Amino acid sequence: MESSKKKRNFLDIAKSEFGRIIMSAALSVIKGIDIATYVFSLRKELAAELELMVRGPSSDGLAPSADMVGDGIARFLAGGVDYGSLPSSFAVIGKPEDTGPVPSSWQVVPRFIVSEKKYSAVIKIEPGTNLYGTGEIAGALLRDGKVTYTWNADSLGYGDWKKNLYQSHPWVLAVRADGSSFGVLADTTYRLKINLKNQISFTSEGRPFPVYVVDAQSPREVMEKFRVLIGAISLPPKWALGYHQCRFSYYPESRAKEIADEFRRRELPCDVIWFDIHYMAGNRVFTFSQKRYPDPKRMNDYLHQNGFKSIWMIDPGVKKEAGYWVYDQGTEGDHWVKDKNGKEYNARVWPGVCAFPDYTRPQTREWWAGLYKDFVATGIDGVWNDMNEPTVFKIQNQKTMPESNLHRGGGELPPGDHALYHNVYGMLMVRASREGIMAANPDRRTFILTRSNFLGGHRYAATWTGDNLSTWSHVKHSVTMILNLGLSGQPFSGPDIGGFLGKGTPEMFARWFGVGVFFPFSRGHTSTGNIDKEPWAFGSEVEASCKTALERRYRLIPYLYTLFRESSINGMPVMRPVFFADPTDPALRKEDEAFLLGQDLLVLPQLSKRANHVHALPKGIWRTITLVGEDHKEDVNQPELKIRGGSIIPIGRVVQNTTEESLAPLTLLVCLDESGKAEGELYEDAEDGYGYKRGEYLLTKYSAQKQDGKVVVKIDSEEGAMDRPSRDCVVELITADGVIKASGSENEGIEIQ
Ligand code: NOJ
Repeated sequence: MESSKKKRNFLDIAKSEFGRIIMSAALSVIKGIDIATYVFSLRKELAAELELMVRGPSSDGLAPSADMVGDGIARFLAGGVDYGSLPSSFAVIGKPEDTGPVPSSWQVVPRFIVSEKKYSAVIKIEPGTNLYGTGEIAGALLRDGKVTYTWNADSLGYGDWKKNLYQSHPWVLAVRADGSSFGVLADTTYRLKINLKNQISFTSEGRPFPVYVVDAQSPREVMEKFRVLIGAISLPPKWALGYHQCRFSYYPESRAKEIADEFRRRELPCDVIWFDIHYMAGNRVFTFSQKRYPDPKRMNDYLHQNGFKSIWMIDPGVKKEAGYWVYDQGTEGDHWVKDKNGKEYNARVWPGVCAFPDYTRPQTREWWAGLYKDFVATGIDGVWNDMNEPTVFKIQNQKTMPESNLHRGGGELPPGDHALYHNVYGMLMVRASREGIMAANPDRRTFILTRSNFLGGHRYAATWTGDNLSTWSHVKHSVTMILNLGLSGQPFSGPDIGGFLGKGTPEMFARWFGVGVFFPFSRGHTSTGNIDKEPWAFGSEVEASCKTALERRYRLIPYLYTLFRESSINGMPVMRPVFFADPTDPALRKEDEAFLLGQDLLVLPQLSKRANHVHALPKGIWRTITLVGEDHKEDVNQPELKIRGGSIIPIGRVVQNTTEESLAPLTLLVCLDESGKAEGELYEDAEDGYGYKRGEYLLTKYSAQKQDGKVVVKIDSEEGAMDRPSRDCVVELITADGVIKASGSENEGIEIQ
């Protein structure tokens, strides 16, 4: 029975492949290609395919092995492969259970190909399908026709020609012509080629890998199902949504104070001051320079007293130096990555020759986590994990450790070489960092920013897009990179606003800042030796423009916080492509300057010097709003903002940092749909800590309705155990003829005549 089935499969394939060879041969004659070479290569491919099919045909005939593992989620495995020898998935949470066979109506079925130690999975796409995702890659939003590699790499001054950056996301989101959508996850940590020329193909030289396919009615639904597989972010502390000011590096202590003071003196809202590597003693992690920061607690106290939080950097490379306590502890605990001969691997990074923690070992992660206890006891609010690809200096073209290096694993991770663990080195580091910080401060939410990561790593840390350039093309890349990161599971990201390398121009800086305040993570940063890039560094005109931008962000923080809460529950990106508003509209698929925040606010920036981009807009009612009296026509640095008809957006007043009471009064921006209705929601909680997990929050749903010549705006329902404050509420009804304002008490509802 079994063998006759094998024969039938073989014959079916042979028949169809024979037809394919004849057709292709005819085509190659037309194209002038040598037929013998062409047929030979096709036969080789065919032989490999047949071998695989014969080794492990599935009973349903769909693919070597296929099972549903959730609602609308299928998992495919190549036949004849021992998956037990692979580490458990880094991207996928838990162990998805088979829930039954894949139905015969299931459309997206990968074809597995094995040839010369290459393992591929190929997915056909129908005409009119557009492709997105593949994580942190510069260039157009639309990934159709593009090739990307997953191989985390230090990428100083990258451009859109660079096919791999600091992070790896082996995931593609496809949107079909009719607006329905599917996503494909190639679940491997090995270096992977993702080729999106006319199809989706994943090729790895490592080992065979499972492929997960998520299929749904819309990209939004795909993202929700994707969240079931890879998990969501945990809710960040509210302060992390404020503006962050960084540079490589602010020192000594007096300079950091000066920066903080300037923000307050000039009334430029800001929540966080960052400490880059120069704070350390000789770049040794978990130390403080006696000269620059003799008393880090004093520094942190000063910032806290002035309404700031502080974030300090920790890299993975530990200086190899007997007598340096971190190195001594690491050596004693046998925590270092080994070379192929089993000896401690050493290479140069910032501190000089370093050893590198082997985060695949549970004991090493535990040791690393423990190092944060005294560090954060100085009053540190958040941690920046950098250089964790891991970067290694002075290794030509490689900039990382050899693939033959050895990781010892433990627990759920088998021992393996660096080729297997390279792409998750940063992810394992931030996982350990997070555990340590949480153990040290169990009552506070963590904030970690990481440069390197892997699909699923959003569960541990936010990210930024690395060492960009002060060029107009990087202003554009900021938007597309954050959008594709969001579509790849990472909703909390942003670029170095103003550019890491290069001076740029005042005009470019102001424009970048204007859009930068709408990114989920909003931070200005620049390199050592570069010009100053604080909002006031380019003179009063640019400063005024930055002030407007910052005030716009701070008014929007109640809405942004509500979006982050949504993301922490259903995995939805905070910043979304415009086509999310109407996936059936092909005109929106390429729009990659404009973007949505949530589903109700459209941001229309001008990202080129000429400021002449004509945005593709979704159909329906979208009305322009102003937040602080700005006029996007007069100040081109401020993106035009449009509210969706049918929505209510909650906003606060301008505050200087997120610890100030913002909802006094609460403002509701209301824009009615064609039937005279609108709705929206506001999420509130203690803004830090975990009380919200015990129900201590307030989720208020508002509705607006036009009736008998007036519009009534009221609370529709509420959820959560937090007491409702009694507060004033301003309603701004955004109509085609202008804004109508009314105010009253939130609890009683507000009528507009
Ligand atoms: C590389 C990071 O990408 C950059 O942001 C940082 O300033 C430098 N390392 C120095 O720590």
